[in-house]
Amino acid sequence: MSDISRILTPDVEDEVEVAVDRSLRPHTLDEYIGQRELKANLAILLGAARQRGDAADHVLLHGPPGLGKTTLATIIARELGANIRYASGPAIERAGDLAAILTSLDERDVLFIDEIHRLNRAVEEILYPAMEDFALDVMIGKGPSARSLRLSLKPFTIVGATTRAGRISSPLRDRFGATYRLDFYDVADLRAIVERSARLLGVELSPDGATAIARRGRGTPRVVNRLLRRVRDYAQINGDGRVDAATAEIALAALEIDDEGLDGTDRKLLAAIIQKFGSGPVGVQALAAVLAEEPETVEDVYEPFLLRLGFLDRTPQGRIATDGARAHLARLGYEVPAARRGELEQPALWDGSTQDGAGSRAASDPNALDN
Ligand SMILES: Nc1ncnc2c1ncn2[C@@H]1O[C@H](COP(=O)(O)OP(=O)(O)O)[C@@H](O)[C@H]1O
Ligand SMILES: [Mg+2]
Repeated sequence: MSDISRILTPDVEDEVEVAVDRSLRPHTLDEYIGQRELKANLAILLGAARQRGDAADHVLLHGPPGLGKTTLATIIARELGANIRYASGPAIERAGDLAAILTSLDERDVLFIDEIHRLNRAVEEILYPAMEDFALDVMIGKGPSARSLRLSLKPFTIVGATTRAGRISSPLRDRFGATYRLDFYDVADLRAIVERSARLLGVELSPDGATAIARRGRGTPRVVNRLLRRVRDYAQINGDGRVDAATAEIALAALEIDDEGLDGTDRKLLAAIIQKFGSGPVGVQALAAVLAEEPETVEDVYEPFLLRLGFLDRTPQGRIATDGARAHLARLGYEVPAARRGELEQPALWDGSTQDGAGSRAASDPNALDN
């Protein structure tokens, strides 16, 4: 069960996974599939920096886990012909740790800081002058004789990654020359990704097998790669190792992944909103408690794709399971009690068939939305 719920969690959790992630990583912008607009803009930024022989502007990448942020950071360095150092926000504990990294960078090197929203305050303050002026302010001495000394750094590029740009302090955000948002991938792009991965892993994958996996891939490259490996295992044990649509569908059904790509946790989240909270609105804290997850994990890992599917709405009053979510779970045989939405429902979404008193009257009154 833990294995099943793990499969769609777009976190990297173990060493095998990290190694596979790395081996499947595209190395150049050309090999990087999808995200066309982002790639076009990034190509200009990198090309211009290369032409001038300067360090590229600092780049901030944001988007849900598994969409290719770390991969892009690696590509950025490679396209610049520069070295890359990897660091992560929570791992840089003291200002001195960051100062040591910064002073060790060569000219035009890339410093990748993953989970940059989790840098602590003292560390972040070292970063401001470093990013803006390539300068490091160090304090010398203590007490009344203390003074600050400014050291200069070689020009470098910070590539920051975060699952949510909103968590980054504005002084830090302002110091990035370019900010790119990664979006979920469409099925065609996911197909191309899973086909490329199958080639690299030596898996014989039919076109309809690729489509079957791509359709359940949660819009996420890391997820399709993970599904591919699980389907390959299944095909190897139960067949001749070749993956076609039928094999893929049986294997994915055995992993409890439904035809929208939702896994057990996704459905549990929606079922909780629908069954325990009258389809919402319900606060993220309460939902997290039902799932025994951190609210942050619910917000960063589970919700983005459900929002994207239109199964979830975020309102100021909390999360709402949409009619689409209710229909999906009903189709899968879940009990779907009447929604209690009442005055919080948008009139356009109200289907009018459930005339059950005050709630629906308020819902059809546009003024009710303002109070
Ligand atoms: N655009 C892409 N094209 C091909 N493979 C990709 C792409 N984006 C991500 N991947 C694959 O997905 C995996 C996860 O990507 P990663 O960069 O680690 O995501 P993130 O850092 O955003 O969590 C990588 O192993 C990589 O092989
Ligand atoms: Mg990453």
